[in-house]
Amino acid sequence: MRIMHSTLRRIAAFCLLFSLVLLSAQVPDVQAHGDKREDKAGILLVSFGTSVPEAKVSFEKIDAMVKKRYPDVAVRWAYTSKIIRHKLAKEGEVIPSPAEALAKMADENFTEVVVQSLHVIPGEEYHSLVRTAHAFQGMPKGIKRIFVGYPLLSTNDDLETFAKTLLSLYPAEKRDGAALVLMGHGTHHPADVVYPALQYHFARLDPSVVVGTVEGFPTLEDVQSFLKEKGYKKATLLALMSVAGDHARNDMAGDEDDSWKSVLEKDGIACETVLHGLAELPPIAELWLQRLDGAMAHIKR
Ligand code: CO
Repeated sequence: MRIMHSTLRRIAAFCLLFSLVLLSAQVPDVQAHGDKREDKAGILLVSFGTSVPEAKVSFEKIDAMVKKRYPDVAVRWAYTSKIIRHKLAKEGEVIPSPAEALAKMADENFTEVVVQSLHVIPGEEYHSLVRTAHAFQGMPKGIKRIFVGYPLLSTNDDLETFAKTLLSLYPAEKRDGAALVLMGHGTHHPADVVYPALQYHFARLDPSVVVGTVEGFPTLEDVQSFLKEKGYKKATLLALMSVAGDHARNDMAGDEDDSWKSVLEKDGIACETVLHGLAELPPIAELWLQRLDGAMAHIKR
């Protein structure tokens, strides 16, 4: 009897939890009454941003791919980095923040918006974006429903697919004995675990790949130990970032003593640096488009 009770309690608790989950997933329909607006869908692509003009090729390429896939949907852009937006504004280029872009889209009568994160990991920039998007959902005369697409490396499957895709572009055979060093940004946010998780997949697929980060884990020292232990004399360096901006050009490939290239060359490793943003590589940009497809599946068009 006691067993039955606890089982029943568990079932009841599960039902309650499940209904709460269902309720929270529902969109607050505060303006359904009297809102006769026709549905109008839009896409907002959101990146951290870059102030390096040559790096923008990444954004241009992914913008063209999105417009080709969704020719009947308006595509807008926003940058999450305030520093970059302010720097660009001084040079006369005004790029909105996600909040500014969503406010404008609400004013232009968009009723359903998919916000696609062009961030690499679901870290602080992504979570701030989700909070901003939620704040804009269901405002009077505003956007009825907003969905946010996941960043590039979110689920375990994402990591494995990304690793395989990147290896198809930079296979070991074509590197002629060089290790492939991937420089991620890294963060204090719990999502920093994505980098060691990605290293796990590379270790299984191609043990000549090593993942490091500028500000998180694994570190450049970890990369140095990896290369030393395995006896590499050559390495190809690529940034795990959507654009080859300031971090790729300076922290990774710069001539200063503390750049990854300089540090590794001091260790006796000849470095070749690749200045391509991930969004510039069509098979990788396609993975971001798949995240967008997933979010677009939720909206009426
Ligand atoms: Co940074």
